[in-house]
Amino acid sequence: MNKTVLVSGGAGFIGSHVTVELIEAGYEVVVADNFSNCDRTCYEGVKKITGREDLPLEVMDFCDPEAVKALFGKYHIDAVIHFAAFKAVGESVEQPLKYYRNNLDSFLNVLEAAKEHGSFVLFSSSATVYGEPDSVPVTEATPRKPATSPYGNTKTICEDILRDSVKASGGRLKGILLRYFNPIGAHPSALIGELPRGVPNNLVPFITQTAIGKRECLSIFGNDYPTPDGTCLRDYIDIVDLAKAHVYAVNRMVDGRMKQACEVFNVGTGRPVSVLELVNAFEKVNGVKLNYKFAPRRAGDVTAIWADPSLAESEMGWKATRSVEQTLQAAWAWEKHLAGK
Ligand code: UD1
Repeated sequence: MNKTVLVSGGAGFIGSHVTVELIEAGYEVVVADNFSNCDRTCYEGVKKITGREDLPLEVMDFCDPEAVKALFGKYHIDAVIHFAAFKAVGESVEQPLKYYRNNLDSFLNVLEAAKEHGSFVLFSSSATVYGEPDSVPVTEATPRKPATSPYGNTKTICEDILRDSVKASGGRLKGILLRYFNPIGAHPSALIGELPRGVPNNLVPFITQTAIGKRECLSIFGNDYPTPDGTCLRDYIDIVDLAKAHVYAVNRMVDGRMKQACEVFNVGTGRPVSVLELVNAFEKVNGVKLNYKFAPRRAGDVTAIWADPSLAESEMGWKATRSVEQTLQAAWAWEKHLAGK
């Protein structure tokens, strides 16, 4: 019998790509989402890509403990990957209670059910837990820094909640924390991708929306950082590469290869790219001219962060394979698909 993975937030950007990779790796997947921050586009896209018209979908809110209990009663869940959370940094500063309530309650409900049913837990954490690191690249042993936003703090707190609960569970609960760097791009089919509501906060959706004419001009936040070209450095990781890391992590859990009951892995490329380099690469590889200007720094941005991803490779056999150019081509193909071009 194939193992079953529950993907909370499975209709979103990362969740939909992970669902595709899990299905292609032979897992049964249950997608659960409340569609609070996405529509059905990516869920429908996943069904097309995988040919799985019968892909189970549970429309539910993970903040509802009874609904979560019922879900774990309905399916035999071998592992749960938890994406269902709010993720807008700026909004979290304005509405911290909304973020703490949603992101913590939903994870607590998942953990209680996972413990009860002996399901493995994979939590989607973020490089945001490293804050502005003292040195780069960062390894998993790099000390975490106090979060600069309530959103970031929910990631740090959920990491701690998982660690503490695993420790106290006497082996009932085991989990992996994946710390993502900057996920970008789209599936090569152009059937699923990032679909931000309103004005995008993140760089690549802003680039593609400017290129297609939905936005007038991209603002590059800060060109006076102490970096080679003055713009921030990040580790942009292709969404399909990132999705595959989840398959490696789930394999490791269900095949009994974990070395500790709670493990943590960076999911990045190890390759720093500046904002300006990314913009130039987008223009070059897609043959489009981008209207952009330099603007003041954005509050809360770190100067430079990129991963040392070697632990994920030595322990799980995973590493990123796609070039920035391939990823930016996929992002552009997705934006054109959305525009019907
Ligand atoms: C943010 C979050 C991170 C989250 C990630 C993906 C923090 C500190 N960062 O990362 O936790 O996982 O989003 O949702 O919490 N930029 C521009 N113009 C724009 C948009 C961005 O110049 O219009 C620049 C930013 O200044 C930054 C880079 O592009 O240097 C990347 O920004 P963004 O895509 O928003 O990701 P992060 O802030 O790195």
